[in-house]
Amino acid sequence: MRDFNLSRRQFLKSTAAVAAAGVVPTSLVKVALASPAESFTFAYISDAHIQHIKGTSFVRNWDRGLIRAAAETNLLEPKPDFVLFGGDLAQLGTKAELDHGAEIMSAVGYKTYYVMGEHDYYLDLGEYWSKLFGPQYYSFDHKGVHFVVLNSVLTFDDWTFNRWPTAEQRMLEMAGLDNPNGSPFMVGDKQREWLKANLDKVSKGTPVVVVSHSPLQKIYKGWNFWTEDAEQIQALLKPFSKATVLYGHVHQIHYNQIGNITFHSVMATAWPWPYPQSYAQAQHHLPEITVPINRADPFFERDATGWQFIDAATGRVTMRYNLYNNTGRTVAFNTTTGRPEDRIYQDPARRILPQLHY
Ligand SMILES: [Fe+2]
Ligand SMILES: [Fe+2]
Repeated sequence: MRDFNLSRRQFLKSTAAVAAAGVVPTSLVKVALASPAESFTFAYISDAHIQHIKGTSFVRNWDRGLIRAAAETNLLEPKPDFVLFGGDLAQLGTKAELDHGAEIMSAVGYKTYYVMGEHDYYLDLGEYWSKLFGPQYYSFDHKGVHFVVLNSVLTFDDWTFNRWPTAEQRMLEMAGLDNPNGSPFMVGDKQREWLKANLDKVSKGTPVVVVSHSPLQKIYKGWNFWTEDAEQIQALLKPFSKATVLYGHVHQIHYNQIGNITFHSVMATAWPWPYPQSYAQAQHHLPEITVPINRADPFFERDATGWQFIDAATGRVTMRYNLYNNTGRTVAFNTTTGRPEDRIYQDPARRILPQLHY
């Protein structure tokens, strides 16, 4: 297994000042290409859910998570080449929330690319977000890697335009996690056509990293851990020898391998979502190899938030999660079984049972 240029110890040393109180809710991603000179890192911050109360008041815990992430990103050594924000900057998509989130993120000292989340989108269909951050889908190339950012939280026109008396009602309906009035996310025809044309121009040996808010794989429809046209996106990625999909939204650790495509979620700065019992009770496609976070401690607001490294040197990723208030994890591709595995946690004999609280 290849080691990281930026070791965990170096990282922790450089972030000791702000890490002392708890969590580092930033994901640092290392992309290593064939030539070591071209290796680079980028940081990933996601799901801040900045929530307005009234006047100049915002929910303090969510503010704090994002402020920490911004501060710690600035302390990374070596410095990341850029930062990705993975969506759900706001909770209910208001100008106050987006402005406040943008102001906190303005402390980040690096070029930042933004991804649209459903909490950012469904109040005004992304209008104000686009004023602040630009296009809702785009691509860029960085040191030999082709990055694509998609807006994966679109849905059927009938749901978006015809169903709700107000925009606020539409936003609230989409913001509910377990809401039967919700609608599945999708990338949609227009963006898929754009994506096809975009990827047609990229040589199939070029590493491609696709960034979305919802997972471009179908995990659990009841909670919209799901993208309706995931298979069609996966088909467009199939010709590439190195394809990675990174997503936020789920506030959990997931990883999976579908054919040539490696999937990884990134952590939220706001809160973790549980792994519900309903996974076992309702229709789902939860990948068997997904590793639940060993938690949850309801008395620790930052439980299961954290940061991670990704080493993509071989075209298969090795990911090291550093979870605060929890044991660190390494998920590496096992060439014998042909899938990513956490060999420590997935050994049933070593698994720690869920905690009980009374
Ligand atoms: Fe979120
Ligand atoms: Fe989301």
